[in-house]
Amino acid sequence: MHASTVPMDSSKLVLLLSLLYILLLQPSLTAAQPDFTNYDCNWNYESNYTADSNFHRNLNRVLSSIASATQIDYGFYNLSAGEVPDRVNAFALCRGDVAVDVCRSCVNNSTRKILELCPNTMDVFGVYELCMIRYSNRSMFGVVDDEYYFDEENDQNVLDVTLFNQARQTLFARLIPRAASGNSFKKFASGNQSAGVETVYATVQCTPDLSEEQCSDCLLDLLREIPYCCDGYKIKENTGAELTYPSCNLRWDVVKFFSGTLEILSPPPQILSPTTLPAPSQGRTWIVITPLPHFAFDVFL
Ligand SMILES: *[C@@H]1O[C@H](CO)[C@@H](O)[C@H](O)[C@H]1NC(C)=O
Ligand SMILES: *[C@@H]1O[C@H](CO)[C@@H](O)[C@H](O)[C@H]1NC(C)=O
Ligand SMILES: *[C@@H]1O[C@H](CO)[C@@H](O)[C@H](O)[C@H]1NC(C)=O
Ligand SMILES: *[C@@H]1O[C@H](CO)[C@@H](O)[C@H](O)[C@H]1NC(C)=O
Ligand SMILES: *[C@@H]1O[C@H](CO)[C@@H](O)[C@H](O)[C@H]1NC(C)=O
Ligand SMILES: *[C@@H]1O[C@H](CO)[C@@H](O)[C@H](O)[C@H]1NC(C)=O
Repeated sequence: MHASTVPMDSSKLVLLLSLLYILLLQPSLTAAQPDFTNYDCNWNYESNYTADSNFHRNLNRVLSSIASATQIDYGFYNLSAGEVPDRVNAFALCRGDVAVDVCRSCVNNSTRKILELCPNTMDVFGVYELCMIRYSNRSMFGVVDDEYYFDEENDQNVLDVTLFNQARQTLFARLIPRAASGNSFKKFASGNQSAGVETVYATVQCTPDLSEEQCSDCLLDLLREIPYCCDGYKIKENTGAELTYPSCNLRWDVVKFFSGTLEILSPPPQILSPTTLPAPSQGRTWIVITPLPHFAFDVFL
């Protein structure tokens, strides 16, 4: 068969141009969600759900509520649906400097991507550069999850390793208490520290359900991973890396990778913080947090 040389009539041409327009000029109609920098479909344990299960129905409800939760403008989504044993608990967290519309777009993408990658497992974790998502049938609120970590590296070398490491240490020592003393909406801090010719920029963040002590401990655990993580010896010379636990993350680089002013302080705790009981001193334990009505989200049937 040969392609016809008969001129197309105008209605066919219009149709063809319309199709071309849809395919070429509206990539959003066909675009897939961006890839996660990292994810795990069986985070703390492996368990599957089936398509016609209550867990699946609850999960769909939670994820669509997260994607459309326009009342949340502080970057932390803490939603649940259903009853034990089919209850779904979900967290989404945006990096603390991310604008609210970007945060919503990132979180929306994460709710779609995670289902695409993990269509039938119950304990999952997915990370984008600007946000992350977690869900489980277990309750996660107030529980430090720092068993594993993800990392991303920038594999250029710093100019002066000793100076750089000192500056990075100084910076994290300053930022961690600031993030930890944030409130129950946000626990985030960013800043910079001069390392001779270079400057270290860094962010630290916890999910804001953690207590001050839990947040601080989580970030200090991550800090202790730096010499061992990533590529062993090599990391000590790297200009940048990002370490992520589900409950906290830190990142540094020699370029300013976060937005906003250089030193973002967590909002003062006394304004918004609910009553928090002191965290028990060890292990994966619970704290009781009295929620303010404003952020007690629950998805009902
Ligand atoms: C879950 O499903 C996967 C295939 O999708 C299978 O390989 C795995 O063994 C299942 N795990 C359990 C605990 O049923
Ligand atoms: C989420 O993103 C999709 C496109 O990927 C869009 O159609 C949908 O409207 C978005 N949802 C919200 C609530 O913004
Ligand atoms: C979560 O699911 C696992 C596997 O189905 C089950 O063993 C566990 O009891 C569930 N946990 C809760 C809190 O429902
Ligand atoms: C969400 O996904 C869309 C479609 O792939 C993309 O254009 C957009 O940049 C993503 N949003 C964020 C915040 O990454
Ligand atoms: C952070 O960067 C600003 C602007 O480059 C600089 O003025 C300031 O001294 C830096 N802070 C520290 C602690 O190095
Ligand atoms: C988060 O969800 C848990 C469990 O549903 C609830 O007890 C808690 O009050 C919620 N906290 C926030 C800050 O929304």
